Amino acid sequence: MAKKGKKVKKETFKSVFGTRDIFGEDILPWHELEDTVRSVMNLFNYTEIRTPTFEKTELFSRSIGHETDIVGKEMYTFEDRDGESLTLRPEGTAPVVRAFIQHYMIQKAPVTKLFYISPMYRRERPQKGRFRQFHQFGAEVIGSAEAWADVEVMAIFNRICERLGIECTFKINSIGCPECRPVHRELLVTFLEANRAGLCKLCLERMVKNPLRVFDCKNETCRVTLRSAPIVLDHLCFECRENFSEVRHLLDDLDISYEVDSQIVRGFDYYTRTAFEVLSELLGAQSAFMGGGRYDGLVEELGGESVPAVGFAAGMERMLLILEQIRKDRVKTAGPFIYVACEAEPLRREAFKTVNLLRNAGISADGDLLGRSLKAQMKSAGRSGAEYAVIFREEEKAGKIVILRNLNTGHQKEFSPSDVVKTIRKIKVDI
Ligand code: HAM
Repeated sequence: MAKKGKKVKKETFKSVFGTRDIFGEDILPWHELEDTVRSVMNLFNYTEIRTPTFEKTELFSRSIGHETDIVGKEMYTFEDRDGESLTLRPEGTAPVVRAFIQHYMIQKAPVTKLFYISPMYRRERPQKGRFRQFHQFGAEVIGSAEAWADVEVMAIFNRICERLGIECTFKINSIGCPECRPVHRELLVTFLEANRAGLCKLCLERMVKNPLRVFDCKNETCRVTLRSAPIVLDHLCFECRENFSEVRHLLDDLDISYEVDSQIVRGFDYYTRTAFEVLSELLGAQSAFMGGGRYDGLVEELGGESVPAVGFAAGMERMLLILEQIRKDRVKTAGPFIYVACEAEPLRREAFKTVNLLRNAGISADGDLLGRSLKAQMKSAGRSGAEYAVIFREEEKAGKIVILRNLNTGHQKEFSPSDVVKTIRKIKVDI
């Protein structure tokens, strides 16, 4: 028993390693992100789904793949009191597909479009941007094998990033289908066998269990060895090649920035054809803040009909880290919405008139009053805190052109000089 007058130190509890409480001011960016997600999902006609926090373990092991890191060592699995094995969801795709099958959604519409905002659980080593309970928002389109569906889900994410001012360039790849993948697999295994000396222990294990995953290895020696490894893109069947080319054309049509990266293979077994990720240099080692792709075999694998599907999920903690970073770096002034910049005369008069037109339309705008170079004006635009710049330029062939540049993301597009106010009004309504 404690002596009278001596304080007894009470045992207190702390949140579990890799989990966090979010409250006070810190909740505000979460609300902003969630509101942006809901608003864009609404714009694209996706409806929300909320699935249970835990599911039968078999749902995840069968869909994600027995040999993957997630199923092998990262799942929170427990035995229920009746002996059934249950798992806290490590990702949202398998539960959405389970719900799609269970509720016969296929009978309600030829294409089902769903989105979710939910906590996920993976027992990874916590570090910057990596938690054991983390949050994802994601979208899944079930029912279309067309490249339009791939590009639509990418366009959703692109739009969310645009609204938040986050730079978004997709790394895309095609990992083929059950028809062309075995051809590549055989070539890859032959290559890996012949280059065993240049591979780490994990890659040698993957060579046997899931050879494509060697491309995920971060080990420098392995990366050098794998530079000359056969890639799936060179061995796609005709349909997969056509499909990948269509995806790229549609991304071009929608002005969505991307680069082809044959090393993107993703850590799940359910993927087919298009796979994509978005990375940010602002994040450090855990640089991927979004990942997704097509999974044409998953609905059937989980007991449904043979229905193609595609989707993505984004890490919300990582997106908030990026937002915090870019906002810290930006000059904190209220700033105008638009900065109008131009090359030399006679464009100066036009630019000056445009600032006035925008102000007449109730849009806060600013421009140069010193007759400086375009470069100097663009510096001022950056410092002013403006969201967008309208740039008047004279090109040798095209003559006068007007460019609208998002000053947060650097994305830009050309439009007609007579449409300046209309175009700006539209983006003001849109954001
Ligand atoms: P994923 O790449 O495993 O894909 O996760 C998507 C994003 O979740 C990652 O890019 C990352 O930003 C975030 N994330 C993953 N693990 C953690 C963690 N431990 N801590 C913080 N953030 C994390 C999927 O989950 C697939 N279900 C995506 C998908 C949807 N594919 C098709 N449809």
